[in-house]
Amino acid sequence: MGTFPDFLGLFLLCGMLHCIVECHVHYHDFVLKKENFTRLCNTKSMLVVNGSFPGPVIRVQKGDTVFVNVHNQGDYGVTIHWHGVHQPRNPWSDGPEYITQCAIEPGSNFTYEVIFSDEEGTLWWHAHSEWTRASVHGAIVIRPVDNTEFPFPKPDGEDIIVFGSWYNTTEDVNDVVAEDLQDGSDTPNSDCYTINGQPGDFLPCSNASTYRLQVEYGKTYLLRLINAVMNVEIYFAIAEHSLTVVGMDASYVKPIVTDFIMIGPGQTMDILITANQPQGTYYMAGRQYNTVRKDILDYDNSTVTGILEYKGNYTLPTHPIFPSTLPTLFDLVAAKKFTDRLKSLATISHPADVPKNLTTRMYLIASSNYGFVNHSGQYETGVAASLNNVSWANPSTDVLRAYYRNMEGFYTSDFPNFPPSFYDFASEDYPDTTIITAKATKVKVLEYNEEVEIVFQGTNVLDASEDHPMHMHGYSFYVVGSGTGNFDNETDPKAYNLVDPPKMNTVSLPKVGWVAIRFKASNPGVWFWHCHFDRHLTWGMSFVMIVKDGDTPETSIRKPPPNMPPCNGSPTIRLQPFDMLRKIAGDSK
Ligand code: C2O
Ligand code: CU
Repeated sequence: MGTFPDFLGLFLLCGMLHCIVECHVHYHDFVLKKENFTRLCNTKSMLVVNGSFPGPVIRVQKGDTVFVNVHNQGDYGVTIHWHGVHQPRNPWSDGPEYITQCAIEPGSNFTYEVIFSDEEGTLWWHAHSEWTRASVHGAIVIRPVDNTEFPFPKPDGEDIIVFGSWYNTTEDVNDVVAEDLQDGSDTPNSDCYTINGQPGDFLPCSNASTYRLQVEYGKTYLLRLINAVMNVEIYFAIAEHSLTVVGMDASYVKPIVTDFIMIGPGQTMDILITANQPQGTYYMAGRQYNTVRKDILDYDNSTVTGILEYKGNYTLPTHPIFPSTLPTLFDLVAAKKFTDRLKSLATISHPADVPKNLTTRMYLIASSNYGFVNHSGQYETGVAASLNNVSWANPSTDVLRAYYRNMEGFYTSDFPNFPPSFYDFASEDYPDTTIITAKATKVKVLEYNEEVEIVFQGTNVLDASEDHPMHMHGYSFYVVGSGTGNFDNETDPKAYNLVDPPKMNTVSLPKVGWVAIRFKASNPGVWFWHCHFDRHLTWGMSFVMIVKDGDTPETSIRKPPPNMPPCNGSPTIRLQPFDMLRKIAGDSK
């Protein structure tokens, strides 16, 4: 792109932010209702939006605003989150239950105002209450504004590929999870993965419904990939066709040509493919990238497929070709090789503006735990997951309301910047005290416009290290570094990429490794941070950041919309001082 269009891009962007001429307003109705679906020869009823799995696609231009009226005709409360939409100054419509709102109860409705700003590419929406997102999710497509272009040659066509999880159980998945939490057992594994709701040829009763993408020889297609899977990262490849990754999490990246990708739950990727192979049929296939210990055999090892099919007159082969380049389930090297290649575009029209004057540094250890100190200060057994040995406990009234209305007793502002103790996090030898965590509602408070660095560090506690797709609401962040083993705060920062680091809203913290991210706290609000594996989210691997208002109305949280769903909560939580953790951990030995 030359200088002139770059200039024009900047110019339009400025106009857009104030939504004067360029921006459009859209209206949607989302009706949540249980419907019957049949997969893997089983019929079950599950909650979906507007009768479809995955749900409807929202299409906008950069900078638009969308009003979505969500009507809950199901039988339990639900909220909807607009994953990766930054919602400037508007946490009211972000959606995570107990963080920015209470549930939309059955028989009621709530209208979200979804404000797009700098996002361009692909995002998605999903339920943000318990595990309801398994069946309640859909794509968001954000095109460039008029008179601007993709920063790559215009594709001849495009399509969306949503990876999902299918659970055979006729019980509601939320009920299964609740039972597992009760009796302390592991949460359910999916029975297969899906591409646009379909398991594909390799699975029973699925042939006829396999997702097919029809292409014309010589043409280039933009595929918008969304990982809406519940608990695993996904490897994906298309037989005989290379993939060019051009975008991620609604930010552009320098094009990389690859024969597979690895995508974590929460992430989206825009890829180009050119139909330049002999006319025929080719599998596009996905399977789990499994970073859990190999001796744990209980996981969903199925392969999901779709078919890339050339149009025209030719004799169809009996079987599509399978991608030989799809990494095997435990291939740690392939994942690292791929993610290390991601760089942001860093051009004049798509600059990388990496914070360099840090005011807050955090070092957060991510652990699997067994046993925790509950709200009343008592020790309980049970599976948990934590950041700095704190496991998030939902308050009875959402944090945003409590913060905005100065209601006391719902959370404390002492989420720790550092782990309670330092040890060799990468070693298989860990102190017993680190096994235990504290259940608490602790938030991190940031001043407006602070420049923040967080280094996430995976630990080997319980010999249970694995990847964690860490997701932040309200922002995208720059991924300035990552590595294996322990983070070294002397040497590792020297190798940071501060020039063209990729910008994401969800980043994979590698198994027994670390990842460093930076962002500028320029969006006031209450924003959730969590592992996007729902089982870890359920077990408490999350925390909240409150970004305070700036000095002006334009830098402050907007007024709440009318009719926020009510909360019936009272401050029942007895908030624990952080030291309690160490004391109890010591006592229980
Ligand atoms: Cu994709 Cu907290 O969400
Ligand atoms: Cu996790």
